[in-house]
Amino acid sequence: MLRYSFVVLCASFSAQLAYAENCKIDVKSDDKMQFDKKEIQVDATCKQVEVKLTHTGKFNKSIMGHNWVLFETKNKADVLKTAEKAGPSKDYAPDKSKIIVETKLIGGGETTSVSFSLKGMKAGGDYTFICTMPGHGGMMIGKFIVK
Ligand code: CO
Repeated sequence: MLRYSFVVLCASFSAQLAYAENCKIDVKSDDKMQFDKKEIQVDATCKQVEVKLTHTGKFNKSIMGHNWVLFETKNKADVLKTAEKAGPSKDYAPDKSKIIVETKLIGGGETTSVSFSLKGMKAGGDYTFICTMPGHGGMMIGKFIVK
């Protein structure tokens, strides 16, 4: 009986861990202009999603800056266009009306994070994340899936 309880306890503990992992996402970026993920899945029941972006490279943000910007895929062209227009003085931040959430732009050795609610996002919706530094969006792009 004792052993049975232990197994049940472990099973529920690991289920909670899996749940927690689904709401907290670690994204690494580097000097090769890459995110370490092409797809991120979160649980629709997450109250808050936290995305932590780390730049594991050495170049500073003016040369190899990275951010993590989430938006509805249909807005991609506008996100890129407004980011380019914002330019380096505004860290290539796109127009807020075109995105869901963004991190700041970071350089090598830096970390940043952003927390947001999934309110207004739909399970099965079409969402994309990208780095908006000009020229990076071709490689630094992935799908964000709410399930
Ligand atoms: Co970048």
